[in-house]
Amino acid sequence: MKEKTVRISIAGFGHVGGGVAEIVRQKREEIARIHGINIKIVGIADLRGVIVDENGLSEDAILKLKREKRKRKGEEAEDIYVDTNTTGMTTLEMIREVEHEIMVEATPTNIVDGEPGLSHIITALESGRHVVTSNKGPMALESTRLIELAAKKGKELRFGSTVGGATPIISLIRENLAGNRIISVKGILNGTCNYILTRMTEEGLPYEHVLKEAQELGIAEADPSKDVSGIDTALKLVILANFVFGLNASYKDVEVVGIEEITLDALKLADDAGYVIKLIGAVDQEGDLSVRQRLVPKENPLNVGGTLNVATIRTDLAGDITIVGKGAGPIETASAVISDIISIG
Ligand SMILES: NC(=O)c1ccc[n+]([C@@H]2O[C@H](COP(=O)([O-])OP(=O)(O)OC[C@H]3O[C@@H](n4cnc5c(N)ncnc54)[C@H](OP(=O)(O)O)[C@@H]3O)[C@@H](O)[C@H]2O)c1
Repeated sequence: MKEKTVRISIAGFGHVGGGVAEIVRQKREEIARIHGINIKIVGIADLRGVIVDENGLSEDAILKLKREKRKRKGEEAEDIYVDTNTTGMTTLEMIREVEHEIMVEATPTNIVDGEPGLSHIITALESGRHVVTSNKGPMALESTRLIELAAKKGKELRFGSTVGGATPIISLIRENLAGNRIISVKGILNGTCNYILTRMTEEGLPYEHVLKEAQELGIAEADPSKDVSGIDTALKLVILANFVFGLNASYKDVEVVGIEEITLDALKLADDAGYVIKLIGAVDQEGDLSVRQRLVPKENPLNVGGTLNVATIRTDLAGDITIVGKGAGPIETASAVISDIISIG
């Protein structure tokens, strides 16, 4: 197979951005052999600065950056701290000026104005780069505008990892269900909520106790409010809905109820009647969007436990398709980013 070089930049070098670099390091040859694509990372930006090598950053340079970050976060690094040569460029300058095909956006999700990710994505598309983003903010606030800009520029905008993490809900719909009309999509799109409800149901433990343990285990954030209030599910639902049904919705249009008020008594009553209570995001072809607690029959495929994500896609030809997988995690999420990169090719 004739090999093609695909140069990428990474804006945001945290869990996901670092995971992408790690997968490229581990699987560069396998990806080249199977898909004929040689992925070269030519620029990386985080809050500290930008490193660039138009011929491809060496593994040493990337490793050095990772070690420095560990050092900055007060963790033990194996080697003596060596200052990485940052270029003095800003992230936007890297996106504009360094020649590459695909910009990977993995900066923090901001649901107020989508920044800095929104500007990174717009700049990349306007500079003639394809974009792969794991950042939900720009897609939940401005997906219609961004999808239109990408089409106008003849560039790809891929966002598979923003919904379901590693679970390929979006690419399943885009590729494997092509030709079907999608009637509805509903599912569990937040692993933290699922973990809390699963443990409350199975072990009879109160909400505060499970939340605290989830935080200690790193399953819930120090500030879990966006997860438990249902907002994170709403962000993902809007991205999905705009993509599948061409809506122009914002997460602010979604009727949202979280899980904070669910009591052990309610879970027990549901259990006795053959149900579990789950936080379900749902959208249908009429454009109705909701995030709310729903009774799910125990034998229904949406009844998955722990931190898993799940979605049932109802179609006119293929019937119901249910997909289950991991909704978060650095390598898991980065795997969806890599898949988007390969599919752009
Ligand atoms: N982690 C997951 O499992 C997961 C799953 C699905 C989606 N996502 C989404 O993916 C994105 C990244 O998540 P993450 O867990 O990797 O976050 P993270 O660990 O907090 O990393 C964010 C990175 O962005 C950098 N950054 C912030 N502002 C920047 C700017 N203006 N220019 C360049 N870099 C900037 C930070 O720099 P410093 O390191 O210098 O602070 C950090 O490296 C988020 O939007 C998140 O919602 C994450």
